[in-house]
Amino acid sequence: MSHILDGKKVAQKLKDRLKIEIENIKSKFDCVPGLAVVQVGNVAASSVYVKAKTKAAKEVGINVFDHHLEATTNQDELINLINQLNNSEDIDGILVQLPLPKTINEEVVLNSILPEKDADGFHPLNVGKLSISPKNDENLMIPCTPYGCLLLLKELNIELVGKNAVVIGRSNIVGKPMTQLLLKESCTVTTVHSKTVDIESICKNADILIVAIGKPEFVNKDWVKEGAVIIDVGINRVKINEKKSKLVGDVLFNDVEPKVSAISPVPGGVGPMTIACLLRNTTTSCKNRLIN
Ligand code: GUN
Repeated sequence: MSHILDGKKVAQKLKDRLKIEIENIKSKFDCVPGLAVVQVGNVAASSVYVKAKTKAAKEVGINVFDHHLEATTNQDELINLINQLNNSEDIDGILVQLPLPKTINEEVVLNSILPEKDADGFHPLNVGKLSISPKNDENLMIPCTPYGCLLLLKELNIELVGKNAVVIGRSNIVGKPMTQLLLKESCTVTTVHSKTVDIESICKNADILIVAIGKPEFVNKDWVKEGAVIIDVGINRVKINEKKSKLVGDVLFNDVEPKVSAISPVPGGVGPMTIACLLRNTTTSCKNRLIN
């Protein structure tokens, strides 16, 4: 039997801590962190995430400013809005939900967010800081999903130093920052991707395996080492029949679970942690503004 990493529970613990921090900020400085949530268009999955992020932010006492723009919004209009948010004293964090419509250059938009208000930690300055700072400094703006994965790992109270960690996927949102975070924990990190030769045998060597490939139930028990720790970042909706669908991860859970020492489920694993880390970044940004 493996340990099932309960992301909901760990996320709640972090949110409870943030709620207290925000109450303290309020009583000391008479203000609370503000988060602007920007969505362009109506991608169904984005609407679900934005709703969950907004709800969670309000629960911990963050002021949320919703900006839901038409799918026809052009890049200049979006950047104008970001400039306003950059200049607003009420806003500590700006989240632009991805993906953006094809007509908008994501890189230009993300770079227009002030680094200190970059709630996702995607700005090049924050990416650079993450890569050169020697440890997981509490003032850093850290990409939410990989940071959530790291906090889940830390819940296990296992030694990370010297462990073989393999990250499947090299996206800017998950794979690359995950690699940096694990490196800072002194893991020996290998990042594998679609062009890697013989991924399976590399994964089989992993003490810690982070799976972010976006292919439903792709990783089976033949990919994993006995006793490994598995973090499943995938969120894939698959059809059960004509009417019904369900969410599954990138890992074939029932096949892998008996072989490993710990595994995160989907749903209820990384997802809630991503949201809690967004709230952490927003609160960190507010503290950086007021205190540092
Ligand atoms: N789309 C998928 N994941 C994310 C994320 O972590 N942040 C943003 N802004 N968009 C996303």
